[in-house]
Formats: sequence, structure tokens, C-alpha cells
Amino acid sequence: MCGIVAYIGKKDAFPIIIKGLKRLEYRGYDSAGVALIDNGQLNIYKCAGKVANLEEFISEKNAEGTIGIGHTRWATHGPPTDVNAHPHISMDGSLALIHNGIIENYDALKQELIKQGYVFKSETDTEVLVHLVDNIGKKEKVWFGEALRMALSHVVGAYAIVAISKDFPNQMVAARKSSPLVVGIGEEGDFYLASDATPIVEYTKQVVYLEDEEIAVIKFGEELKLFSINDEEKRPYIQQLEMELEALEKGGYEHFMLKEIHEQPRSIQDCLRGRLNAQEGRVTLGGIKDYEQKMIQANRLILVACGTSWHAALVGEYLIEDLARINVEVEYASEFRYRNPILSENDVVIAISQSGETADTMAALELAKSKGATILGICNVVGSSISRITDAGSYTHAGPEIGVASTKAFTAQVTLLTLMALSLAHKKGSISETNFRILLTELEAIPEKVKKVLETNAKIEQIALEYKDATNALYLGRGSSFPVALEGALKLKEISYIHAEGYPAAEMKHGPIALIDENMPVFVIATKGNSYEKVVSNIQEVKARKGKIIAIVTEGDTQVREMADHVIEIPETNEILVPLLATIPFQLLSYHIAVMRNCNVDQPRNLAKSVTVE
Ligand code: G6P
Repeated sequence: MCGIVAYIGKKDAFPIIIKGLKRLEYRGYDSAGVALIDNGQLNIYKCAGKVANLEEFISEKNAEGTIGIGHTRWATHGPPTDVNAHPHISMDGSLALIHNGIIENYDALKQELIKQGYVFKSETDTEVLVHLVDNIGKKEKVWFGEALRMALSHVVGAYAIVAISKDFPNQMVAARKSSPLVVGIGEEGDFYLASDATPIVEYTKQVVYLEDEEIAVIKFGEELKLFSINDEEKRPYIQQLEMELEALEKGGYEHFMLKEIHEQPRSIQDCLRGRLNAQEGRVTLGGIKDYEQKMIQANRLILVACGTSWHAALVGEYLIEDLARINVEVEYASEFRYRNPILSENDVVIAISQSGETADTMAALELAKSKGATILGICNVVGSSISRITDAGSYTHAGPEIGVASTKAFTAQVTLLTLMALSLAHKKGSISETNFRILLTELEAIPEKVKKVLETNAKIEQIALEYKDATNALYLGRGSSFPVALEGALKLKEISYIHAEGYPAAEMKHGPIALIDENMPVFVIATKGNSYEKVVSNIQEVKARKGKIIAIVTEGDTQVREMADHVIEIPETNEILVPLLATIPFQLLSYHIAVMRNCNVDQPRNLAKSVTVE
């Protein structure tokens, strides 16, 4: 959470920083701020609200300078006010700093600094950092880069930091631990820094991802210098970005979320590309192929994740257990890491994360690694922290997802888990060759079927109109459609602020049924398959209590059509692939309801896309 952008070079820093912050707003949008050095002056501009507020606020001022830092905040310590916005500045006005992460021992450090005469203006943990650097700089008589390095040995917590000082107008210093930071190397001796590569890609494709406890000393016109926190010089590893700028634009859609929903035929295809060959009867997951035997022989595969990725993990559990007959457990990363789980080197822990930066998921992996388990990753963001700490992994290749509510990343995760389940099952011999080939052919056809599901958009918009004022909603599914129900409910909550719950359809009678009356929309996945008749009975139970049924059914279904208030048809497919299709109407439905309720679809209140605090 929180987005960081910085620039040093010959160009005007402000437009670069503002544009970059807009790209990073998915990381938080409680307040925004910029610090620029202009003619020996350090000027700070910051205010509560979104980056657009800041832009408007600055429009009347002369925001000039060729070195600057910018920040968009997701509040942790202290409410989203102007004062709590970053950058924070030293008392003498010479040093400014931005920070993403949490300083866990901030209170102890703060009390110590107060004793030494420091006055705090904000309620943030970050302000501690700026005073600490100032304090060490003055006491030890060292420049601010060295003071920052020394300060970090007193800090417990997570950080990505960029600092500038008007006394060194040609330099900036950055550091990271558990929060991401990328340095872009420009062509004219200039540098771009950001929390991810999206603000950088239009200027340069040469980047260096900082490692944990690395400090970057950046001087305009000189080479990037990296140091460990213990002051050992390190060699920067320059990588080539593969991201394209168009992927970061709305491309004619009103919202990123809508664009991303419509991108799914392509993103699923991209996830399958080079990995699935139905004609030759082959599935290859290059990234993890050396670990497949280990997975087959493992005690358990433990899938750890948060949010939407956790829902994908639940689908994965059904798939892997059903096809490959390997024990799978799915864990919320945040619970797993604090539960003293029983782990050994015979366990394989697989993290699923769109961003590859989620703090709890990272910590769960670190714990698993410390107990000797093999750790693997399924990430979307290339080069992300999780993808770098794992023993091996596979990328989902969904492309950048900007809308805070996850859509195409989810279907890509489920696609990848399907490939994984098929590959393991085939290698283990737990699936017949005929069934394997049938499933490969079915999976190959999914992108085209997703296109067909997207054609139901107009109908879904009409349904949305009917239920947009609901205050509660229930989502039901069985088997691998149960996680789809959870995901449907989450999407509605996240972006339209309607309370919604996902339930296994049969569990409804153990509680939620008490809520059902004529005002309660109940969204049910009632596609053809093993539990079809059971779901039909659950629908009857809802109808008997006058609830409204909106059912996702298989094309040509007549039985549910007679009972339901609305049906949305999806093409027929093998039961285990239904989640890839059934989730899409729910995404569209939430989208339309949110738009009709005038909610901010891409940046829902209080949420952030990348949760780098626990
Ligand atoms: C946040 C996002 C969700 C996401 C979750 C896990 O809550 O808003 O969309 O599912 O984090 O993120 P990850 O990047 O690990 O998948």
C-alpha cells in the first residue's frame, strides 16, 4: 500500500511524478504529496484526497524542479489529513522523505526523539524516520544518505523510502525492506523510482529491483550505486521490462475494471499460451516442472493467499484434489503465519498473489521456508517480491491489473491452477489419457466461451438495475462453484458497498435462510453437473421464502429457468472448468451495480490493491 514515485534528472519532475502517482493510485488514495527541490529550495505540496486533488491544489503554484519525490497514501497511522500526507520534512526544512510500509517500533523511537527536542506535527509512523535521519546526521556529522543507512538499523518494520535534501540537490537516496521499490535507469543520466514499474515504463525499460535491506544512492549523471544496510557495495542487476504502455491505459473503456473484465478471453489465452497443447496432449508448466515430483510426493500442498487470490486457491484445492489426488489445504496467509503451523520438508507451500507483494503472503512463505518446506509462487506481477523469494513458480501473465477489484487476475490464477492440476494428474497417472485429453480440449476452448459469456453484458445490466438498491445479497454455489459464490459476494461488497455473503448452497439452511424475504436477491450457480439437483432443491427453499433468484445456468437449461426470477446462461463446459465462466457474470453485475450507485469502481473506498502491511 502507498505508492512512491521519484525523479532526478534534467526534465521537469512534477509532471512525471503526478502521472506516476496516478498510475500507482491503486495502492492507496487517501492523500497525496510531492516535494521538489528548486533553486536550492525544498518545496512541499500535499493534501488529503486523491492525486487529482493534489494536481488541482498545485495548479496555482509554481511546482518546479528537476528532482522530486511523490507519494499516494493508504492510511495506517493517523487519519487521511493534509498533515499526515507524505512527504514528511525535517524541522529545519532541509530533508524530505516518503515511505511505504509500517515502522513497528515508531512509538519508542518517537518518545526518544521527543526527549531530544523533536516536535512531531503528524500522527504518522513515517515522521519518526525523517527526524531520526536528521538526528543521526547532526550527531554523527554525516550526509543524509549515510544517516539514513544508519537510521535503518534502529528501525523495525517494513519500508520503501526515498529521501531528498536541499543540501544535496543532485542526489536522492532510497531503501527497501519488505515493500517494493524499482529504479528505472533513464537514457540521459536520469533516474525514475517507483513502487512498481508502471510509472517508469514510458521513459525506460531498464530497471533494477531493489532487494531487501538494500540502499540506492542515486546521483544525476552517474551510475546507480547500491549498498547493503551494512555498507557493503553491491552490483545492480539491470533487467529489461517487458510491460507495454498500452496495457496501462483504459483503451476506450470507462473504467479499468470493465476493460479488465473484457480482457479475459485474452488474459486466459495468455496464461495458456505455450503451456497447453490439446492436439499433442501436453501440458507444460516450465517454471515448476523441476518441482512436480516433489509436489506429487508431498505430504500436502498448502495454498496460502489473501482476498480474491484465496478464492482462487479454494478452486485450486478442488481441482488438484479431484484430478491429481494430492492432499491440498488452503490457508489465509494472515492466519497461517501466526498459527505455529506444523510444517516439514515434505510440505510444499504455494503462494498465490496477483501483486506478489502482499505482506501476509510473503510472511507465510518466509515462515514455511524457515521450517524447511519447499515454497512456490503463482504471481501476476513479473519480478515481484514473492516471485523472487520462492524456489520456483509460474506467472499468470494476465497483464497489469489496475482496477482495485481483481477480475482478470482471478481467472488467470484459476487457469494456472487448472493447468497445474492437469499436469500433476498426468504425471502421477491419476487421470486417464482419454479424460486428460478431453479436459485439455475443453480448457483450450475456454477463451472463446468467455467471449460468449461477455455477450450477456446487456442482460446483466438490466438485472443490475433491478437489484441496485438491495442492502443485502446472498451468493450460493456448491463444489468448485462455492468459491465462485464467495468471489461474487466479495466483488459486490468491494465496489458497490452492498453487504453480501457467499455460502455453500447446502449451508444456507444453517443460518442465512433466516435472512431471506422478498427483498433478498440470491445469486446461485446452478450449472449442469453432479450437484445440479441439489442446487435446484436449494433454489426451491429460497423461492418458498419469497427470495429473488438470479441463477447462472448452462445454456439450454429449462428446469431452473422455470423457478428463477432471472437466468444468465453460460456455455456448456466440463464441470471443473465452470468457475472460469461462472465468475464473469458476477463481475459484470457488481460493476454495473457500482456504476448505478455512483461508486468509484476502480478505487473503492478504504481499499488498496496491494496490501503491503499486515
Ligand atoms: C487486496 C486486493 C484484492 C486482492 C488481495 C490479495 O485486498 O484489493 O483484490 O485479492 O489484496 O492481493 P494479492 O496481490 O496477494 O493477490
